[in-house]
Amino acid sequence: VTQRASNITRVEHGVPTELRERKNGHKGGVLWFTGLSGAGKSTLATRLERELFDRGYQAYVLDGDNIRFGLNANLGFSPEERAENIRRVGEVAALFSRAGLVAITAFISPYRSDRDRARAAANERFHEIYIKADVETCEQRDPKGLYRKARAGEIKEFTGVSAPYEAPENPELVIDTTALSIDQAVAELIQYVEKSFRN
Ligand code: PPS
Repeated sequence: VTQRASNITRVEHGVPTELRERKNGHKGGVLWFTGLSGAGKSTLATRLERELFDRGYQAYVLDGDNIRFGLNANLGFSPEERAENIRRVGEVAALFSRAGLVAITAFISPYRSDRDRARAAANERFHEIYIKADVETCEQRDPKGLYRKARAGEIKEFTGVSAPYEAPENPELVIDTTALSIDQAVAELIQYVEKSFRN
C-alpha cells in the first residue's frame, strides 16, 4: 500500500482509551518482541500472556506464524513483504493498545525502519523488547529445523543465514535467552510490565 484513499476523515470513539484503562486497572500498550527465529519470542510471549492473564491483565499475543495463516496469508519473506507484514501488525497492535489491552507481538521484525514505524503507530504505548540470542545458539536449538533447511538452500532469504537482522539500538528491555532460563526471562518481563503498565 503506497497511498491512502482520499475523502476519508477520522471518527472519534465513544469510549476514550483512558476510561478503558481505568476499568482494566492497567494501561494499554504494545510489548514488541523482536529477535531471530529460535530466540524464544513465541515461547516467552505465550508464557507471559498466561502469567499476565492470571494477574488480572487483559493481554493478547499476536504471533508471526499465526498471523501469516490469516491476516497476512498473502505475504512472504522478501524485504517488501516483511515491511508490509510489520506495518499491518504494527497498526493492529496499536489498535489493541488503544482498546486498553497489553498486546504482545512476536515477530522477527528484522528491519529497524519497520519497527520504528510500528513504534510511531502506537506512540508512547510502544515497548520494544529485544529477545536476544546469537545465530549460533538459535541454529543449535533449531526447534523447527528451519536453519538446517536454510543452510541446505531449501529456504531462501532466511533471517540470520541469508537475510539480515538489524538488532535494536535502544530497546526498552533486553532479554538475553542465552543467559536466562525461561522462568527467569518471564519473571523479568512481568517485573517490567508491573512497573510500566500501572495506571
Ligand atoms: S518477519 O520477518 O517479522 O516478517 O517474520 P515473521 O512474520 O515473524 O515470521 C517468521 C516465522 O516464519 C517462519 N519462516 C521464516 N522466518 C524467517 N525467514 C524466512 N525466510 C522464513 N520462512 C519461514 C519461521 O517459522 C518464523 O518463525 P519464528 O517463530 O521466528 O521461528
